[in-house]
Amino acid sequence: MARTVIAGNWKMNKTIGEAVAFAAALRKALADKPDLPEIVIAPPFTALHAVSAVISGSAICLAAQNMHEAEKGAFTGEISGVMLREAGCSSVIIGHSERRTFFGEKNQSINKKLFAALRTGLNPIFCIGETLQEREENRMEEVIGAQLKEGLNNLDDSDIRRILIAYEPVWAIGTGKTATPAQAQEMHRFIRNWIAGGHSKELSEETVILYGGSVTPQNIALLMSQPDINGALVGGASLDVESFVRIVEYKSTQGV
Ligand code: PGA
Repeated sequence: MARTVIAGNWKMNKTIGEAVAFAAALRKALADKPDLPEIVIAPPFTALHAVSAVISGSAICLAAQNMHEAEKGAFTGEISGVMLREAGCSSVIIGHSERRTFFGEKNQSINKKLFAALRTGLNPIFCIGETLQEREENRMEEVIGAQLKEGLNNLDDSDIRRILIAYEPVWAIGTGKTATPAQAQEMHRFIRNWIAGGHSKELSEETVILYGGSVTPQNIALLMSQPDINGALVGGASLDVESFVRIVEYKSTQGV
């Protein structure tokens, strides 16, 4: 049975001061709360180190939003996995659709980043998802299948065990259009079956598959009621402490 994880992707939002204030408020709001999912927050690079000090010793984990596949070198403007570990990260988002769309990331380079993250001791959150056009052409399985095949190329079961997969239909990100729970479930099932087919049933059952795309306190409980949805990667609704806490506490705030 897969763990439950709720992750907040802040994208290019919050100064260091804002990030520290958010992290302190989140820590306080969740202190001593029983039965919580695993919680991850992904601030921008500049705020990682400061936020890591604020959440140290709590159940909140720190992720970065991207990394370069090399350990160091002449890659102006880039950040390595070693630097992220030093800044306090245990996890890193790889292959987010905004990286694919705006920065030209392809499955092959995403595969290299996954290798580098694992080698550095970071647990990757590997993002995949189809565009609206691909969905309208009913090519979701072909596209997601290729992203999985090329992205996870040459990774073995022990690597994949450390990877969280985030299914984020591109048409649902930041648009207010969520996939229906049934649409999301269908793709999550496809992903789990793909892992069972290419690897093992046992591994597929343990794999954490997050849904992302306009997740809110209002729709989280219904999404989480689907058998193959193990959590969420939340963008916009993770920027406000109260809203993120309500998502994290979806079990007790159902229907509110
Ligand atoms: P959103 O973003 O929740 O604002 O749609 C999700 C994401 O990009 O991870």
